[in-house]
Amino acid sequence: MKKIMIKDMPSFIGETVKIGAWLANKRSSGKIAFLQLRDGSGFVQGVVVKEEVGEELFAVAKSMTQETSMYITGEVKADERSTFGCELNVTGIEIIHAAEDFPITPKEHGTEFLMDNRHLWLRSRKQHAIMKIRNEIIRATYEFFNDRGFTKMDPPILTGSAPEGTSELFHTKYFDEDAYLSQSGQLYMEAAAMALGKVFSFGPTFRAEKSKTRRHLIEFWMIEPEMAFVEHEESLEVQEQYVEHIVQSVLKNCKLDLERLGRDTSKLENIKAPFPRISYDDAIKFLHEQGFDDIEWGDDFGAPHETAIANAYDKPVFITCYPTGIKPFYMQPHPERDDVVLCADLIAPEGYGEIIGGSERIYDYNLLKSRLEEHQLSMDAYAWYLELRKQGSVPHSGFGLGLERTVAWISGTEHIRETIPFPRLLNRLYP
Ligand code: 4AD
Ligand code: MG
Repeated sequence: MKKIMIKDMPSFIGETVKIGAWLANKRSSGKIAFLQLRDGSGFVQGVVVKEEVGEELFAVAKSMTQETSMYITGEVKADERSTFGCELNVTGIEIIHAAEDFPITPKEHGTEFLMDNRHLWLRSRKQHAIMKIRNEIIRATYEFFNDRGFTKMDPPILTGSAPEGTSELFHTKYFDEDAYLSQSGQLYMEAAAMALGKVFSFGPTFRAEKSKTRRHLIEFWMIEPEMAFVEHEESLEVQEQYVEHIVQSVLKNCKLDLERLGRDTSKLENIKAPFPRISYDDAIKFLHEQGFDDIEWGDDFGAPHETAIANAYDKPVFITCYPTGIKPFYMQPHPERDDVVLCADLIAPEGYGEIIGGSERIYDYNLLKSRLEEHQLSMDAYAWYLELRKQGSVPHSGFGLGLERTVAWISGTEHIRETIPFPRLLNRLYP
């Protein structure tokens, strides 16, 4: 008999197969038991009919506890009523391990309880669907950049310098030296772009931020492309094409998962390049018109501001050219103004916030040196980065997309903690 996975069942209609599965849920009457089975690849209903399998096997099926593991055999039957299109008419069950009091039952649980049981909560249908969408975004990311001639380069995680400001760094000892966990691979990606032209990284980044919001993780994953000879506006075009590609890939390849999450996909179908652009100046004017009197030119946006701006559009929106004072040291100044820089944040629709931050980078040696001095950054730690501007320096741009915020938006997940297998949050290091 062939051992198969649940996801492949539709191509085995009429055949008898064997599946390694867990019991997600069950209901039964005196004559028939319905087993909700899962194997990681999908979910399917197993039907056990007493008259067909006999008293003994029926009793086994009826008494199985939630999350019991088994090999289960049966005939694959087409079933119009299930979204999946088939079910298993069970003929045999071989229990591998009977689970003891699985804490997460189909009833409602509080968030803290679910987070304490994250190692088990991951088995639920909802979490399964979110993880599948996360995986599809990662797959589509590699596809997009590889198809366009980018080379994946891996920046270090233990670093001696800070790209995004020094206040949010995790400190550690590196033998006798001080080291920090990377908050962005960008500076290394700039060196990589001078070697390989178009590069991207995908890795974990760390921010010791004391923010406890539905958009912040302490440890999150970032995709950071960096491109030599690419200027600000050209970088925005890459960004909008990339975001279109991941959204359209999820729509195409994760239909059942989006359905399981109750995601309104009409809002996603519309996500096609180009995306609207609004300057920081105009965004401030717009907010004032909307009655926000808590923000002035020169301030950074808070979540309510971002949401108000995003709500004016049905696509992600680029806010461009922020004031120099609220952005990191490395951003290229605007050619006609010295109070703003050539940068953009991409704000997702529906209140999911900033998903991309990016900019053109300073490539003039003297300007970069004076910016490092103004920011009181150590010339020793940044010597190698500054030296890139002495060795065939060229205009270049790059950006960072936060994976978990993007998963939250596309999957329609309210809180970022559910978009990563084991979230690291302000008050949570376990499980
Ligand atoms: O805007 P950020 O800080 O930009 C950078 O780190 C640049 N060096 C990237 C680059 O140009 N190569 O972070 C980029 C993105 C944000 O837009 C957001 O999506 C995500 O990373 N992000 C977070 N996601 C979850 N939790 C946090 N605490 C995050 N901080 C940033
Ligand atoms: Mg940012």
